[in-house]
Amino acid sequence: MNRICELLKIKHPIICAGMVWWSTAKLCAAAAEAGILGLLAGGSHTAEEMGRAIDQVRAQTKGAFGVNIPLLYSHADGIINVALEKGVKVFFTSAGSPKVWTKRLHDAGAVVVHVVPTAKLAKKCEDAGVDAVVAEGMEGGGHISSDEVASVVLWPAAADAVKIPIIAAGGIADARAMAAAFALGAEAVQIGTRFIACAESEGAAAYVDRLLSIDETGTAVTGRSFEGVRGIRNKLTDAIIEMERAGKSKDEILAFIGGGRSRAATLDGDVEWGSMQCGQVAGLVHDRPPLAEIVRRIVDDYRRVVDRVARMNPA
Ligand SMILES: Cc1cc2nc3c(=O)[nH]c(=O)nc-3n(C[C@H](O)[C@H](O)[C@H](O)COP(=O)(O)O)c2cc1C
Repeated sequence: MNRICELLKIKHPIICAGMVWWSTAKLCAAAAEAGILGLLAGGSHTAEEMGRAIDQVRAQTKGAFGVNIPLLYSHADGIINVALEKGVKVFFTSAGSPKVWTKRLHDAGAVVVHVVPTAKLAKKCEDAGVDAVVAEGMEGGGHISSDEVASVVLWPAAADAVKIPIIAAGGIADARAMAAAFALGAEAVQIGTRFIACAESEGAAAYVDRLLSIDETGTAVTGRSFEGVRGIRNKLTDAIIEMERAGKSKDEILAFIGGGRSRAATLDGDVEWGSMQCGQVAGLVHDRPPLAEIVRRIVDDYRRVVDRVARMNPA
């Protein structure tokens, strides 16, 4: 039995990543019904909305789900408290110190998984008592660390550094990447970008269409010097990169970006001036099937991939 499947009470060692605006109750429930872990995104829910979303997931499934809480948000404590009151037992925390909440969450009988971009942080998480880490490489969509370690290096480095299980993230869309992640020391995978393009995702069709249209070079990292974000190239990313090249300060760039760009892209379909967080792996995503079909493909293809690897005898 796989340690992550046991810990999270899921059939397949796959997590449908927490993604602001995309991780709705519907997507989360679809994941849980498919035998993988669904996550609700704390970043795009107020505490009250989170409470309602938790109820909505429970109305649709008896499967396992949790909440993703970027700790940098000012309302993080409120969301965690609501989730605890509602009896949620799985917390994926990110963008903050694993020390702050882990004990309290454990005392409430919850599992704590923290997202890390380096092996050193994975060790800190282990020392802080978290149950597992998501090792997220810089290929992935959304916020990325200034360390910019690629998945193929990060996953084994993290696996060498800790004894707790590693969940690989960043660049995974199919069984080939899952097999690679397992070969490199992970015990499960967290998938974001691939699940944006599924039948149950509720964001703007224009965003999904853009994701389906790009190749592996179609994303860019903006805000490298202060808050790196990987997203689909558009007028917004070009403008930010231009400002960075021109030596504009962090404050000037943040003032230009303003607020609500992710929401504008995801809910209103503003694909030119909205922020379309997305990973490089979009280049391998070509269709929008039901979530369960994506999971079935990964699980079914896995044995074929591993057999192929076994035939590549290097001796
Ligand atoms: C649209 C989008 C929004 C994201 N929002 C969050 C978030 O709110 N919290 C978080 O911890 N990670 C967030 N991420 C990162 C994902 O949880 C996940 O680790 C990442 O997408 C994995 O890489 P992949 O996109 O190559 O699958 C986001 C990613 C995307 C694409």
